Amino acid sequence: MKGVKILAPATVANLACGFDVIGLSLGIPEDEIFLYKSNTPGIRINKIRGASLPTDPKKNVAFVALQFLLKKYQQRENFQEKKIGFEIELIKNIHPGSGIGSSAASAAGVVFGANILLGNPFSKKQLIRFAMEGERIASGSAHADNVAPAIMGGVTLVRSYKPLDITNLHVPRELWVSIIHPQIEIKTSDARDILKQKVLMTDAIHQWGNVGALVAGLYQEDYALISRSLEDVIVEPIRATLIPAFYELKIKCKEIGALGGGISGSGPSVFMLSKGNYTAKKVTEEMNRVYSPLKVDYKTYTSPINQKGVKWFKII
Ligand code: HSE
Repeated sequence: MKGVKILAPATVANLACGFDVIGLSLGIPEDEIFLYKSNTPGIRINKIRGASLPTDPKKNVAFVALQFLLKKYQQRENFQEKKIGFEIELIKNIHPGSGIGSSAASAAGVVFGANILLGNPFSKKQLIRFAMEGERIASGSAHADNVAPAIMGGVTLVRSYKPLDITNLHVPRELWVSIIHPQIEIKTSDARDILKQKVLMTDAIHQWGNVGALVAGLYQEDYALISRSLEDVIVEPIRATLIPAFYELKIKCKEIGALGGGISGSGPSVFMLSKGNYTAKKVTEEMNRVYSPLKVDYKTYTSPINQKGVKWFKII
């Protein structure tokens, strides 16, 4: 095997009430990553298509995540193989700054691919750790609610960051996602800086009630309970001001059948969940109707949940 081709999925973090802890993996869009193992020490990014990303290795999430993995690999007890490096080619189909996990896809994709090329020395949890270091570079915070669903697929829950404890949640069969990506830039670091560091007890009670009920709704495939639980009283009211027509989108989409939704990650994308492909498509059309009169370019997607997460293929 000469190398691997990786398809790294877009992801929706937070899932309304689950700030920094719940995320899901989308079927589309996906980044394509070509990764080759080399005898020349070091990591080289040979090609980036589809986006202009930092070429300074210290600021490139794929480079940083892979460097963490490589360092750990070379530190392993009795490990002699020092002449090892990687060549990366990135084709970005997930727009950076879109709020659907572009940096996470790059970071998760390269560490997942490198693990295969090295003979699978690391667990998924360790890969998530490495990919989180890429997130730290991208946003100033090593959150896992995009990299975990990218690597583990489906819907994931971070129970704890210290120690890292992440689990997959049940995904109801008919759960679909509509996404609108307004082409404005919101930096995750800025969207985090505007948040309050303290929350009211009454808001906290409201929020953890919703998180618990969302998890129950997913397991019971109770779409009405999922719908009632998709509510964020802590982060969304602050970040919503950054997204044009946010509340109009939410109201109109729910009126025509969406279960509910919110800001995808730190925005500007907005997601809506629906029961079934038919309703999800109608919801996506409604998103188009709300945005078409605005002077903002946008893209929409309708996607099932990606149960597998990152996919890989041999390059022979
Ligand atoms: N949980 C993170 C945030 C996700 O909302 O800041 C960023 O994509």
